[in-house]
Amino acid sequence: MSGSNRSHIPSDVELSAGHRLDRIEDRAIGRRREIEVVLAALSSGRNIVLEGPPGTGKSTLLRAVAALLDTTLVFVEGNAELTPARLLGAHDPALVLERGYSADTYVDGPLVRAMREGAMLYLEELNRIPEETLNLLITAMAEREAHIPRVGAGHADPAFRVVAAMNPFDSVGTARVSGAFADRANRVGMGYQLADDERRIVEAAVGVEHLGAKLIDRAVEITRATRTDSEVRVGSSVRGAIDLVHIAVGLAELREVPVDHPDVTLDAAMAALTGRIQLHDGLSSEPEPVVERLWRRIFADAGEPPAAPAGKGQAPRLQGPAPAVT
Ligand SMILES: Nc1ncnc2c1ncn2[C@@H]1O[C@H](COP(=O)(O)OP(=O)(O)OP(=O)(O)O)[C@@H](O)[C@H]1O
Ligand SMILES: [Mg+2]
Repeated sequence: MSGSNRSHIPSDVELSAGHRLDRIEDRAIGRRREIEVVLAALSSGRNIVLEGPPGTGKSTLLRAVAALLDTTLVFVEGNAELTPARLLGAHDPALVLERGYSADTYVDGPLVRAMREGAMLYLEELNRIPEETLNLLITAMAEREAHIPRVGAGHADPAFRVVAAMNPFDSVGTARVSGAFADRANRVGMGYQLADDERRIVEAAVGVEHLGAKLIDRAVEITRATRTDSEVRVGSSVRGAIDLVHIAVGLAELREVPVDHPDVTLDAAMAALTGRIQLHDGLSSEPEPVVERLWRRIFADAGEPPAAPAGKGQAPRLQGPAPAVT
């Protein structure tokens, strides 16, 4: 790996060059401050962990930074099955039979690939990664080498970096990241975006021309309201607002009514938000009444709700499972 002639991530990244950062901000709306911190850390060889709830733009930010630095992001999803061997790679048995063990028979795992190519290894769901795999990463980050079985030490290209993301609300994972790992990484908190930025994000995602801004404003408002409602433990990210608008546009076309028709906005809000919110234990078992209550407040002047509103305990108006959270 040391033979690569890729250069360092340039330390002269134009941190003060407004036009480059403005361009990047088109892709990671409203995140200039976080982008600057990430760039400064990566440019000086530091590692970064982004910590924030789902949908706060962690992957979006890292993709934008990678594009700016003209470097590759090698994605790895963190989970309990991510063993050191999966991260490192393995010798191809057929090639080994033919030629015996050698560097040529080794198929790189994502860590070795990123080290070799001078890429950014991007670990999603960091807090789900088993401790022994984190220990391998610690060696790769600190020593900038990894032991490749039967080949020996592989040295990282100077541009190799580790970036990671994690969700503080994650209840599936293995709790906090080990102190040893945390001590070798720098943390950038990613809170929910500002209201103005969320409107711009939704506009960028769905296109505003044929809609008028009102639906987008309200979609953002109801989505944000799920985060502060007293019955809700975890509210929806901006993904809920994006999907609400997409579904409303589709429904309005199908039903040949305006996009702000109450039939349309209530069904869209139910589909986009009820599957994304988690209620406090023991308060209410159903998300539908919560979303309908918020809808009545925020879409109040849009007209009367449909004839059979989804009241507390009643079946949701849209049948079937809520949309998958992507
Ligand atoms: N700052 C932003 N600029 C542009 N789009 C954004 C921004 N933040 C979020 N989005 C949009 O919101 C959606 C979710 O963003 P993203 O996937 O980056 O979130 P995440 O924090 O990585 O979520 P997860 O923790 O679930 O992986 C994407 O569709 C993305 O386009
Ligand atoms: Mg992500």
